[in-house]
Amino acid sequence: MSKIRVYELAKKLGISSKKLISILEDLDVDIKNHMSSLEDDMAQLIMDLISEEKGGKKPKTEAQKSAELPRKSEEEINKPRVQKVILPPKISIKDLGTRISIEPVKLIRKLMDFGLMVNINAEIDFESAKKLVKEFGYEAEEENQLQLSNQQEVEQDRPEDLKPRPPVVTVMGHVDHGKTTLLDAIRETKVAASEAGGITQHIGASQIEKDGKTIVFLDTPGHEAFTALRARGAKVTDIVVLVVAADDGVMPQTIEAINHAKAAGVPIIVAVNKIDKPNANPDRVKQQLAEYGLIPEEWGGDTIFVNVSAKNRTGIDHLLEMILLVAEMAELKANYNRKAVGVIIEAKLDKGRGPVATVLVQKGTLRVGDAIVAGSSYGKVRAMLDSRGKMVKSAGPSIPVEVMGFSEVPNAGDILRVVSNEKEAREIAEKSKEIHREKEIIATPKVSLDRLFDKI
Ligand code: GTP
Ligand code: MG
Repeated sequence: MSKIRVYELAKKLGISSKKLISILEDLDVDIKNHMSSLEDDMAQLIMDLISEEKGGKKPKTEAQKSAELPRKSEEEINKPRVQKVILPPKISIKDLGTRISIEPVKLIRKLMDFGLMVNINAEIDFESAKKLVKEFGYEAEEENQLQLSNQQEVEQDRPEDLKPRPPVVTVMGHVDHGKTTLLDAIRETKVAASEAGGITQHIGASQIEKDGKTIVFLDTPGHEAFTALRARGAKVTDIVVLVVAADDGVMPQTIEAINHAKAAGVPIIVAVNKIDKPNANPDRVKQQLAEYGLIPEEWGGDTIFVNVSAKNRTGIDHLLEMILLVAEMAELKANYNRKAVGVIIEAKLDKGRGPVATVLVQKGTLRVGDAIVAGSSYGKVRAMLDSRGKMVKSAGPSIPVEVMGFSEVPNAGDILRVVSNEKEAREIAEKSKEIHREKEIIATPKVSLDRLFDKI
């Protein structure tokens, strides 16, 4: 008997996979996810049911309707909650305990585990505090950034203001496994051939359309020296496409990429590349990755594997479909109607245009004329170019744009924020500069846990 996958049937029926899964759950059909297979007769039954529903013959019963409600709230309850805490550059153990509602004595004991003897009034720096609160399930964010944010971060977006946004995808993998070539195949351009030494030197961003939907790609460098950049790539990304060359298999940076993605809680789609090569062995890649918890669907896992040849441009459409599918399941949303917040992906001083930066907008809509601040750089958006170099007037969530109008070159990784006017932007930037200077002066090595580890 032939089988059909959930997402394939959803496509056939013209409904979302999520909707189909919810219907199947209503019918008590035992499925794991969108990649699960359905028997032919079950698929037929669903098709009949849906066409009846569409025809209005079979409205939902009250029982069915009410059965859907608790599931939603249950989902919400089960969503992992990130406990965030905002901390100043320096904080005493006592104050830290108050902020995260943990008895200071527990904090002191934990610090002792790290080999650090402190009393309740001792102050530790932000980096140390961040590591410490992490032990108690908190994610720390530095206060300066938030003060500088003009209360934007504190102002939570209301659920009704959130609208779907495109997925931001980062392509990761070992050196030479074909990340850039794959992106070229996706963008149908030829960046790899023109790159110095064929190694990607920065995070580039690009935007493509597939079936009327936008996908944003960040190309991250594969060389070991760029590990830090790659780590950042994972923070702004919704999905990681892990490129593994089928002739080479899992390599150190493949594992590194898996760890980055896992640490950031980002779903991974595996692109098994170079399948055109005579010595390609995609099954070996599956076996190797299974050891790292990436288990293909046909082996009972839920990781999507797609065989591609970036060189011959095969499997690309399927890969894009899978990206859209994973994005749909993630229900990515953002508020388009607020002052924009974004991340500086890369920045440079351009001879003719002055400081320019690639910004990935995360919330709100960035517009020409907006007053902006990013670290100690500020200004007014003078002009914006999209990923194809076309002038644009605005950019919404998930959209990468090249921005001109900064007072100086911002740092990659800086948060870009729109503020009320240029005067305010300048004041915030100057304050940020001051804080940086102070930090350099007061930096006391003895409070760094990393250094302590070195000594032990
Ligand atoms: P770094 O940026 O240096 O980490 O490399 P990368 O992962 O971006 O690899 P890149 O795209 O530069 O490709 C490395 C080499 O593999 C190039 O010579 C490509 O032509 C080749 N290559 C990439 N994809 C394929 C493929 O599908 N088949 C074959 N046969 N060769 C490929
Ligand atoms: Mg590359």
